[in-house]
Amino acid sequence: MGDRSVYRSVGQKEDTDGIARRVAQITVSAIKQMPVLASKVEGCISLGQGIPSFETPSFIREAVIEALRSDHAIGKYSLQPGLSELRIEIARHLQQTKGIRIDPEKEIFVSCGAMEALAAATATIVERGDEVLIPSPTYSSHIEQILFAEGKPVFVPLIEDQEWKLDLEGFKRAITPKSKAIFLCNPMNPTGAVFSQEELETLAQIALEHNLFVINDEAYDFLVYDNLPYFSLTSIPDLKKNLITTYSFSKMFCMTGWRVGYMYASARIVDQVLKVHDAFAICAPRVSQYAALAALKATNGKDGEGDRSIQQLVARLASRREIACQRLNNLLHVFSYIKPRGAYYVFPKIMIKEMGSMDVSLDLLYEAKVITIPGSGFGPSGEGHIRLSFGATEEEINKAFDRIDIWAKNYR
Ligand SMILES: Cc1ncc(COP(=O)(O)O)c(C=O)c1O
Repeated sequence: MGDRSVYRSVGQKEDTDGIARRVAQITVSAIKQMPVLASKVEGCISLGQGIPSFETPSFIREAVIEALRSDHAIGKYSLQPGLSELRIEIARHLQQTKGIRIDPEKEIFVSCGAMEALAAATATIVERGDEVLIPSPTYSSHIEQILFAEGKPVFVPLIEDQEWKLDLEGFKRAITPKSKAIFLCNPMNPTGAVFSQEELETLAQIALEHNLFVINDEAYDFLVYDNLPYFSLTSIPDLKKNLITTYSFSKMFCMTGWRVGYMYASARIVDQVLKVHDAFAICAPRVSQYAALAALKATNGKDGEGDRSIQQLVARLASRREIACQRLNNLLHVFSYIKPRGAYYVFPKIMIKEMGSMDVSLDLLYEAKVITIPGSGFGPSGEGHIRLSFGATEEEINKAFDRIDIWAKNYR
């Protein structure tokens, strides 16, 4: 059995004397802590962090290799908001996928992953004491980003027994004079829910009625199963003045390590967020911007190399989703679950009465050698659940579930 106290010490029990409150009060998310703990346990299989098992497609890597050879500027800063050519490609891509016309000069900036854009956007609009309405469970880093900006996350529980739907009445009830923004992620990490057009239009209406910003994380917009229609908040023209949307190259092109994403918002907001981007990053890594450019240039929504790689990725993740769900069907005495509709996570409810999410995750780590993420890291309604990612290979997923099957026999 490993040292369970270690887990709590990461980001919580450290010496915070003299450390600013905004930093002392936040933690490294459980998503990142579990792999750190697991690095000390030999032979683990990961259903933890959301990293697709696939390599960055070779056409992207080849384009970067060529640029490394021939482009003398590749080691230099780019323009602070990102390479102009890349912003033009991003605008074209958003026009193609969302049907929206965008000014690439003024309404987009390229960030160090979606994460930096989300943190910079939150820091730009949230100040001490501002309330930010956020579904629970939700992606852990959104919570830390609000806290870092010294805002107050106001959790609005999702409706679990209705496939994790938004509780729109709950959002209305949660609004106070201090409400500043709504923070949303669609498709949802960790539940795998995909919100409907009707839900999102109502949410937008609520935001507009109360003049709230909406920070909208669409890192998984391409990853929806069963031909379910996908609706983006960016398609609501009236919301544009209040909306900040972020996208990522990490998942769509298997580029988690390149650290490149972007933000789309009105020029007024982009201008302000760029000040934070300058203070924290200057610009996204130029070499990664070249990779992003190669990715989008090959993606025309039909038959480009990029399109084929995305189609393949979605098909393979869809079959991994089936495997994960079939294996969970044999574990219903320990986990009940809702089949995810998007992203590559499933968020089962723990059916073992005496165990919380941390107990289960640590047990699985030390006894079954399977990395999972405790639901407590995803907001108050995450407790009582664990998050499993099915980004790993089919073989790894099956092996991990073989181990979980053996572990679960303790609870027959
Ligand atoms: C919902 C969500 N948003 C943002 C990110 C981070 O994206 P990026 O790698 O582009 O920073 C992740 C990563 O897992 C995520 O799940």
